[in-house]
Amino acid sequence: MRDRMQRLRRGAVTGVGIAATTIVLAGCSGNDNKQNSLHPAGPAAHKILNLFSPFFWVAVVIGVGVVGMTIFVALRFRVRPGEERSPVQTHGNTVLEVSWTIIPFLILMVMAVPTVATIFNLAKTPKGNDVVHIEVAARQWFWQYTYTDPSTGFLTANEMHIPVDRPVLLTLTSNNVIHSFWVPELAGKKDVVPGHPNTLTIEADRPGTFLGQCAEYCGLSHANMRLRVVAQTQADYDQWVRQQQTPLPADKVQEFDKTISGEWGCTACHSVTNRVAKGPDQVGASVGPNLTHVGDRAAFAGDIYPMQLDPLTKWIYDAPHQKPAGKLVNWMPNFSSKGMSEKQAGDIARFLLCDTATNPASHPECK
Ligand code: CUA
Repeated sequence: MRDRMQRLRRGAVTGVGIAATTIVLAGCSGNDNKQNSLHPAGPAAHKILNLFSPFFWVAVVIGVGVVGMTIFVALRFRVRPGEERSPVQTHGNTVLEVSWTIIPFLILMVMAVPTVATIFNLAKTPKGNDVVHIEVAARQWFWQYTYTDPSTGFLTANEMHIPVDRPVLLTLTSNNVIHSFWVPELAGKKDVVPGHPNTLTIEADRPGTFLGQCAEYCGLSHANMRLRVVAQTQADYDQWVRQQQTPLPADKVQEFDKTISGEWGCTACHSVTNRVAKGPDQVGASVGPNLTHVGDRAAFAGDIYPMQLDPLTKWIYDAPHQKPAGKLVNWMPNFSSKGMSEKQAGDIARFLLCDTATNPASHPECK
């Protein structure tokens, strides 16, 4: 009776274990999660996968061998019912101890060769006219991109566009805490450290949208610090650049700077001018995301909400409840508590969505 209960309990524990493992592993599967380093879309990501795959299989062989031998020995030499003997007592075995020290040492030495080679290879700075230069500034909690090449020269946020088959050299900076820039399908992670600019090269070998996110805990909304990279053919990319370079009409700039900001103080953190002729620090304010063509982006608020009228209205009405910030961060205020009505929030949202978009008709709400 007792035996049966024990067996039942053991069976149940095993079943739950297998089910839990399956559910957890299911989270890693699928090619549509857009953050899959097993699904590389560029040279850097391919090099990392090429390193990972053989090491993974070496680890599988070693892991299965060790666990298999442990189970075999435990079963083969277990004490059987009624058996009284004690095992022979030994202390140390020189041959065994020397060999299980030397074998892992050799395995690690062999693995170190391609690892170090890949690290140096990925750290190389690309040179030439082909290279696209973008300064990435990590903020709490969004990403700011400054396109610094003479042919570009503008500022945007969260959504980065790049041309396919051209190396993109990112310079990573932070003015607050440590973040980590990570787009798994394009490259590995690189920490974004205050006072210590790092560089990272990304490149896409096909057009597409690649999602990424901050990979270093950086405060309450760390998980809400996402980003997207849109890789485009050279022609599409050139068109996007021209759109970004096109300033908003003067009356729109005035409406934002005078009317909207006059009432709510938006320009303390945001700007609807994105040209960087005088250097990134002199354009608008970079406290919050640059809003020049915010209506062209697919998402907002650190790429967490879709660029649609409803979520944008809720955001402007009461941002702190849409994205936790805590008390340590100077953050978009709760305008509903400052007397803003939902109607007013909706009007500002409509301005940002429809009046900053290159093609307002792409938003059904703007028709
Ligand atoms: Cu930024 Cu985590």
